[in-house]
Amino acid sequence: MFNVPELADKIYFLGARDWHRRIFDALIPLPQGTTYNAYLVKGSDQTALIDTVNPGFEPELLARLSQVMEPGELDYVVMNHAEPDHAGAIPAVLQASPRAKLITTAKGASMARTYFQTPEERIMVVKDSDTVTLGDKTLRFLEAPWLHWPETMFTYAVEERVLFSCDFFGAHTAFGLYEDEVEDLPVLAKRYFGEIMMPFRLPGQKALRKLADLEIGLIAPSHGPVYRNPKKILAAYQDWTSGVTGEKATLVYASMWQSTEKMVFHLAEVFQAEAIQVCLYNLVNADLGDIAKDLVDSRALVLGTPTVLGGMHPLALFGAYLVKALRPPAKYGAVLSSYGWGGGALRQISEILSGTNIELAGAVEVLGPPTAETLEQVEGLGHKLAGKIKG
Ligand code: FEO
Repeated sequence: MFNVPELADKIYFLGARDWHRRIFDALIPLPQGTTYNAYLVKGSDQTALIDTVNPGFEPELLARLSQVMEPGELDYVVMNHAEPDHAGAIPAVLQASPRAKLITTAKGASMARTYFQTPEERIMVVKDSDTVTLGDKTLRFLEAPWLHWPETMFTYAVEERVLFSCDFFGAHTAFGLYEDEVEDLPVLAKRYFGEIMMPFRLPGQKALRKLADLEIGLIAPSHGPVYRNPKKILAAYQDWTSGVTGEKATLVYASMWQSTEKMVFHLAEVFQAEAIQVCLYNLVNADLGDIAKDLVDSRALVLGTPTVLGGMHPLALFGAYLVKALRPPAKYGAVLSSYGWGGGALRQISEILSGTNIELAGAVEVLGPPTAETLEQVEGLGHKLAGKIKG
């Protein structure tokens, strides 16, 4: 027997818990595992499964479904998003439910054909605001492209005021069913936003404007807990998608002989003396989710790297690439660098940052370990940057 809780009138949680998964996208650490949330909406006449689960969890999903209804009688499978962690079980469900149609956007339809070989006659394409009636329940589909793939949409159960938001408002944790059951959810949700949604802040703002007209009683995302009091997460997403930053700096570095590290530590001292919130990460052992979380609302970014083999340290290069790809709202940046005989790292990192909206407030580069004079330069740079952060 599986636990199949009823979240609202005849709306059931059919999600699978991946307690021990520790990495996502071969990149993102999952300290508490994750869930793949699927939901069943059982109307008086028809039924709809909202999203499915990660490959490997098909038998579990079908077993959960069987506890609430006969899978062969399912009418619709709604695919809010085609990524395999939610859509990977679609072939198994369509096989077990021979009359079910797959509801998705036009782009989703094309992806379903490509990724899951879904036959044309099983696909039903919906547009923004289209509805499907299940008898006493209505589903409305809201296109929400680029959250975080081009085909994404939300599904809204009108009478019960439940928003199935796919990855938006998600969090990677296998713990808890509702938001108040996971103590550190605010941090986990912010990590998730930084990792997945931060590069898509504009589509996120558009989606929130669309949601402003809806009465939302429950937010049921595709990962992590369901929000039965959605006010706080909606407010947080308003801030995060708008790029609201605080008097906060994220310092990310690699260091081989502690010369770069000394400069980074010195800058951190200056920031702390200036009452700037400091989040400092050595890329050797940093958790990428923590960095992504702190980039969500940091106003400044400091990158530290030595020169090695004529360029940036590979870890710092990875960090800089990631920062660029995540498109954080940071306005100001600085670079600290040490080299042994010939430079190269500073030029390379300046080139990378020039492709962003981050204004470089300055850089300090030193031959060998930092001297008293170098640290004075770092101090000057720190005060200058602090002034910009506070300004
Ligand atoms: Fe959780 Fe984009 O899939």
